[in-house]
Amino acid sequence: MQVMTLFADRISELGTENAFKIGPHIAAVESAGNKVIRLNLGEPDFNLPEFVKYEIKRQLDLNNTHYCDPKGLLSLRLAIAKQMRQMRGLDVSPERVVVFPGGKPSIGFCQEAYCNRSDEVIYPSPGFPIYESFTRYVGASPVPMHLKEEEGFTVSADRLAELITKRTKLIILNFPSNPTGGVASREQLEALADVIKRKCSPAVRIYSDEIYEYIVFDGRKHVSIASLAGMEERTIVSSGFSKTFAWTGGRIGYAVFPSEQEANVFKNLNINYFSCIPPFNQEGARLALEHPDSPKVIEEMVKTFQTRRDVIVRKLNQIDGVTCRIPGGAFYLFPNISGVCQKLGVIDAYDSLVADLRQRTSPSAMFQMFALYNHHVAVMDRNSFGKIGADGEHYLRLSIASDLPVLEEGVRRLEVASRDHDGFENFVREHARDLL
Ligand SMILES: Cc1ncc(COP(=O)(O)O)c(C=O)c1O
Repeated sequence: MQVMTLFADRISELGTENAFKIGPHIAAVESAGNKVIRLNLGEPDFNLPEFVKYEIKRQLDLNNTHYCDPKGLLSLRLAIAKQMRQMRGLDVSPERVVVFPGGKPSIGFCQEAYCNRSDEVIYPSPGFPIYESFTRYVGASPVPMHLKEEEGFTVSADRLAELITKRTKLIILNFPSNPTGGVASREQLEALADVIKRKCSPAVRIYSDEIYEYIVFDGRKHVSIASLAGMEERTIVSSGFSKTFAWTGGRIGYAVFPSEQEANVFKNLNINYFSCIPPFNQEGARLALEHPDSPKVIEEMVKTFQTRRDVIVRKLNQIDGVTCRIPGGAFYLFPNISGVCQKLGVIDAYDSLVADLRQRTSPSAMFQMFALYNHHVAVMDRNSFGKIGADGEHYLRLSIASDLPVLEEGVRRLEVASRDHDGFENFVREHARDLL
């Protein structure tokens, strides 16, 4: 008799977001009496603006605490439609807007809704891990589009053209990007749009993750691929309130679909999964979009990120074995640590691991764990942003969502770690089984 397994096979296909997995390691280091500098955080170190908090409290007092429209409150969807016009020049009916609990859920929902088994999903790598983690779970095939440091981590139209096949169903783009901070210019997006229009059936969807749309530096303005000729009808624009308003705990995001019919499919997914999003938070989000002080609040935050970016990129580039480009947006730095991995012996140590350990880790993950446990600085490793085909790429992601002195101390610790040969050797000897 065949042994019955507890879980369905698909569960083993579901990946994860390591940003949530590093928490227990940080807690372990801190419980041993060490203060960890957290450069791993994916959320702005600002608070929700007072006027938004006030509106949420007011809504609670109005007892706006019941079930509501599964598509999202009309008041919020109208405000989002208006923002789409102002920011992207698109004339969007609120019926094409669906509100989700954060920017994240529409990533998996789109793969569920648009992809049949063996359809292909093209997504950026390095990229937000949820793009890759969902694909096999829904039975589709992941096709990573490798972003190159020397191209500013943008997507080359030629590379995209090579990856598109008859089975391509969904193409995920993310500018400004997590983890690289890469931003695509209008010309680059136009080149991508030309390839898509030339090579893809009208039923192929572009999922444009624009959650960092406001966090762009050096006076640039965000450009959405949906605003280019012939692209609105193929593109799902996704965004939300987690980053722009430093409101990751509010769980409000949204997507704008090419048609009302498509939006209604996602409304039905919402009904099936969670019914609706807390209405008091949705009213807070509506006010955040409408309030006259919001642009000033966002501008202040972006200015702060830009100042930190300039200081910390300079400091990273002073570390022997590290090169870091200047990101155009988001609040992450993505230094190349190949030189450190070489000179510290990380690559040799990785190569001499037994096969099953090598499978579970990478040189940048080994340095990440060493930096955390021995030098008390938390960062993210390259493979946390897409594993497929990432061998030989040695990067870290540092978040600049902390005050400058904290960031400077974090970089100082990384520099000390980068030349602590003895410490690294001991670390590998002691922890090859439990931490790598
Ligand atoms: C590119 C990208 N998309 C989506 C999300 C998800 O955002 P939310 O917290 O609103 O679900 C994140 C969060 O880090 C992100 O970096």
